[in-house]
Amino acid sequence: EVTPDLQLRSPVVAFLGHVDHGKTTLLDAIRHTRVAAGEAGGITQHIGAYTIHHGGKSITFIDTPGHEAFTAMRARGASITDIVVLVVAADDGAMPQTIEAIDHARAANVPIIVAINKIDAPGANPLRVKTQLQERGLAPEEFGGETIFCEVSALKGKGIDHLLEMILLQAEVLELRALFDGPAVGRVIEAQMETGRGPTASILVQKGTLRPGDVVLCGPYWGRVRALINDLGKTVREAGPSTPVKVTGLSGLPSPGEELLVESDERRVRQIAEERLALLKRPRQEVGPK
Ligand code: GTP
Ligand code: NA
Ligand code: MG
Repeated sequence: EVTPDLQLRSPVVAFLGHVDHGKTTLLDAIRHTRVAAGEAGGITQHIGAYTIHHGGKSITFIDTPGHEAFTAMRARGASITDIVVLVVAADDGAMPQTIEAIDHARAANVPIIVAINKIDAPGANPLRVKTQLQERGLAPEEFGGETIFCEVSALKGKGIDHLLEMILLQAEVLELRALFDGPAVGRVIEAQMETGRGPTASILVQKGTLRPGDVVLCGPYWGRVRALINDLGKTVREAGPSTPVKVTGLSGLPSPGEELLVESDERRVRQIAEERLALLKRPRQEVGPK
């Protein structure tokens, strides 16, 4: 049953897949930017989040690291996500982290759209990818299954519109709704110290609306939101559901996946944060059960 106050929100989509299968390049093709070219060693080291607009609708994308060491972060990536786009290189086929990504998406009960990338590459074999994924329970429609497969080339910009349309179609089926009014609730995507800004946290707002001046609690840290900076680096006055936004004014760096809550009682928020921080700093054996 739909509560009348709930409004449609944009889908939050995560790109998952094996290292170097083209997640960042695909996101670049979608955003018409060049993020991948500027990365150290071509490896995504943090989770970027961006909102794009297509045909009057919006999609928020989360790019995740492909490196083995970031498995835990990837797991969280799937849990703030409505739809997973599983990126599989047509020349390489399903690899260990492809299978891992399928498992993450399934564990989080998130629908999967397959993007077979690098169809331009020599040795590209989309049919082999379909057969491999069918064996993992992801059968394309042409094999009598229900999984959406899109064949794309991030490098040549081929099949991108079709992929976006399939994402929006899937989002429509999911009928994603959230409360837009009221105090914000969000999740930390990443956090970092920035010169001149202090601790900053990239937050995905999940419900309500976040504004400068809001008092927030975020794990063992708190603060009064000093500024909200959008994915284009611009200062904004508010951020509603499905919007990624950088928050300044926190007392420290929260961990990815941590919840952010707006609270009215500043004294209480400060006290809770201080208690949590004290607990974190105590020797492990003294920490009692939750
Ligand atoms: P990690 O973040 O390190 O896991 O990698 P990724 O999945 O984001 O892959 P990335 O976008 O860094 O691309 C890896 C390599 O594949 C780069 O050299 C890209 O230029 C290349 N590549 C990406 N998409 C395509 C494509 O459609 N065709 C071809 N031929 N190469 C591609
Ligand atoms: Na890469
Ligand atoms: Mg990448």
